[in-house]
Amino acid sequence: VHWTSEEKAAINSVWQKVDVEKEGPETLSRVLITYPWTQRYFATFGNMSSPAAIINNPKVSAHGKKVLCALGEAVSHLDNIKGIYAKLSELHAKTLYVDPYNFKLFGQVLVIVLARRLGSAFTVEVQAAWEKFVAVVGAALSKGYQ
Ligand code: HEM
Repeated sequence: VHWTSEEKAAINSVWQKVDVEKEGPETLSRVLITYPWTQRYFATFGNMSSPAAIINNPKVSAHGKKVLCALGEAVSHLDNIKGIYAKLSELHAKTLYVDPYNFKLFGQVLVIVLARRLGSAFTVEVQAAWEKFVAVVGAALSKGYQ
């Protein structure tokens, strides 16, 4: 993957404004509510019987933070996302059996959460860079399925 200096700048400047404690839980909650079949992967997380139950579920919040921290690693290693995600990809493929299509959904929801967070600073250029970033992340996480 080639990143232009503008793309790198756009990805990094947005990431500096991300609050993992807030956007992590929000993104995962939105995924679980909007695409309810994703709930079945998190059978150990307890009550997900309603949107409020999901939003207030501490395991969902903790896991949302964990996922966004892992995304932060990708932001810090834009030129080696496949490498840093090799183990994580194997985990999702061979242990968790997550359908890789769900990575796309997670990426789409994250872009929406960031757009809301940034408002007018979420320019079309920023969107384009982030759509590319979440696509590269999804592709890297899908590697371990081969
Ligand atoms: C676990 C990252 C998307 C399902 C994890 C862990 C990380 C992670 C860092 C913890 C691994 C560990 O404990 O060693 C990511 C990233 C994603 C992503 C960066 C995409 C941007 C998804 C999606 C699903 C999913 C879309 C399902 C819809 C799971 C499950 C676990 C897990 C079920 C284990 C949770 C537990 O029981 O603690 N993921 N993930 N992940 N992920 Fe993902």
